[in-house]
Amino acid sequence: MEPVPLTDQEFVRFRDMIRQVAGISMSDIKKPLVSGRLLKRVKAHGLRSFSEYFQLVMRGGEEFQIAVDLLTTNETYFFREPSHFEFLKSRILDHWRPGRPLRVWSAACSSGEEAWTLAMVLDSSLGAGGWEILASDISTRMLDNARRGIYPMQRATEMPHHVMTRYCLKGIGEHEGTLMVGNALRQQVRFMQINLNAPLPDLGEFDVIFLRNVMIYFDMKTKQEVVERIMPLLRPNGCLFVSHSESLNGVTDRLNLLQPSVYQKS
Ligand SMILES: C[S@@+](CC[C@H](N)C(=O)[O-])C[C@H]1O[C@@H](n2cnc3c(N)ncnc32)[C@H](O)[C@@H]1O
Repeated sequence: MEPVPLTDQEFVRFRDMIRQVAGISMSDIKKPLVSGRLLKRVKAHGLRSFSEYFQLVMRGGEEFQIAVDLLTTNETYFFREPSHFEFLKSRILDHWRPGRPLRVWSAACSSGEEAWTLAMVLDSSLGAGGWEILASDISTRMLDNARRGIYPMQRATEMPHHVMTRYCLKGIGEHEGTLMVGNALRQQVRFMQINLNAPLPDLGEFDVIFLRNVMIYFDMKTKQEVVERIMPLLRPNGCLFVSHSESLNGVTDRLNLLQPSVYQKS
């Protein structure tokens, strides 16, 4: 028997849950999306309603994480917003002399394309050993994909050809149409589950933080809290990158705008 369709009241329960956990705000128009994403779990457990599924989720454990994963939006691809990587190279990497590895945090890395793109750019300029990356996300399912480092070619249409041949292996036979990130980059990229909407673990300081295409899901108060939380992790003169469709206007005045979407800690 088909489960009873998601009611308005049930939608509000899931909406409140994801807001409380991840800080993600959802308007009423997201109801079909929530229903579409969770219905397969309701069915997988043989439940008759979303209320029953909500109870299961709130018991915690594996199903809680699965529901959180399903309620996040994970779209990403290699060399997204390429001007950020050009800025990184010309304004930071080409002048990097401190005699220690440059530390970068990809703070909502989704399935990892952003972190691997950073790895390719850093490695090209600084060489092996000259850099390290922490890549994190709230979604463990996305982090598993990120660690695996295998992607459909369509996610790499923005990747320059020479970068692809240097750092990726092209799938053959049954893996035709995919690429795999090569071993040269793997040692220096660490993946970790981190919820930006909760106190952060001790991660050390970073020279560069990418916080792109995640704050769009947060309301102003959550944005302010998240930026306050990451601020101590950014070194003096370190740079914070947000997406071109985001801005820190009204979020913080403790960072200087270097160019649209790129901020520096003074
Ligand atoms: C659209 S993706 C952005 C990926 C990448 N940064 C980019 O710009 O292409 C947004 C990611 O933010 C993550 N996310 C949402 N809320 C989060 C939170 N509270 N803490 C950490 N990650 C979160 C989602 O799981 C998702 O993978």
